[in-house]
Amino acid sequence: MNNKEGKYDKRNKLNDLTGKEWLKLTKSFWISEKCKDDKFAYKHPAPYLIKDTQKLISLFTKSGMKVLDPFIGSGTTIVAATNINRYGVGIDLSEEYLNLAKDRFLSKEISNDMYELHLGDSLKILDNFDSDYFDYIVTSPPYHNILKNTASGIRSDNSSKGYRNGSRQGIEFYGNKSEDLGNQESFDDFIQLLSRIMKKCYKKLKNGKYCSIIISDFTVNKKEVCVQGQIVEMMEKIGFEFVGTIILLQDNKPLYPFGYPFAYKINHHHQNIINFRKNE
Ligand SMILES: C[S@@+](CC[C@H](N)C(=O)[O-])C[C@H]1O[C@@H](n2cnc3c(N)ncnc32)[C@H](O)[C@@H]1O
Repeated sequence: MNNKEGKYDKRNKLNDLTGKEWLKLTKSFWISEKCKDDKFAYKHPAPYLIKDTQKLISLFTKSGMKVLDPFIGSGTTIVAATNINRYGVGIDLSEEYLNLAKDRFLSKEISNDMYELHLGDSLKILDNFDSDYFDYIVTSPPYHNILKNTASGIRSDNSSKGYRNGSRQGIEFYGNKSEDLGNQESFDDFIQLLSRIMKKCYKKLKNGKYCSIIISDFTVNKKEVCVQGQIVEMMEKIGFEFVGTIILLQDNKPLYPFGYPFAYKINHHHQNIINFRKNE
């Protein structure tokens, strides 16, 4: 603890942070941070970033605790969890993405007793875990069907260094499976299926522990939707308590003149990290 900033309070049951470190992470906005290892995930259409995820895991868990991501994709949550000595559990419908995740773990020499990966539908796979098993859940679900949106500007980012903040251009969507959240016909169907999966997550999370959903607002049938509001309503119905949203700023994304010069149309340059607690 000596090289840490500030003092660690022995009464702290949430994390291993000092008071100063904890306080910094309570800010309602964070600036999204890239690192060189993020590039290994770029064959996945919409990965999130290791450092941002690592910050969340360090805030909501202690060393050795179990972290679940029911939509693991390219494995970012497990890379972030194992970087700081947490046990990572990931589920994904796509074999292709799980293979990408495994390659990432191999290249980082992550020992396979630090994580487990499950191929399949989270709705079913979650039944295999005991109730009150996980210490934290962090995930980014598919954003309804936006990867099928043909407005390529939304997905492209021609920034230098091969880094990008948006999802990748050229890959249309995750897959064709009907259980895929990204393949639900309407936005309501999407919310209903996500709700069924999050209900199972609720059961498997320990009492008093936290769950973070990372998602941005987006348009459905060309209409802007307050996705955050819908997610909060859905999670509260399940029993989660909403404890606040962290705005994750992505200030280096390109700007597109979507409505110009006729109407205002927003450029989404942040994600919402929407945080919840399962109350004792
Ligand atoms: C936004 S991506 C997650 C990206 C991940 N955070 C990363 O950094 O790579 C959402 C993932 O959910 C998966 N998915 C969609 N429906 C699913 C389901 N019912 N069960 C499990 N995985 C599902 C997709 O295959 C996709 O990889």
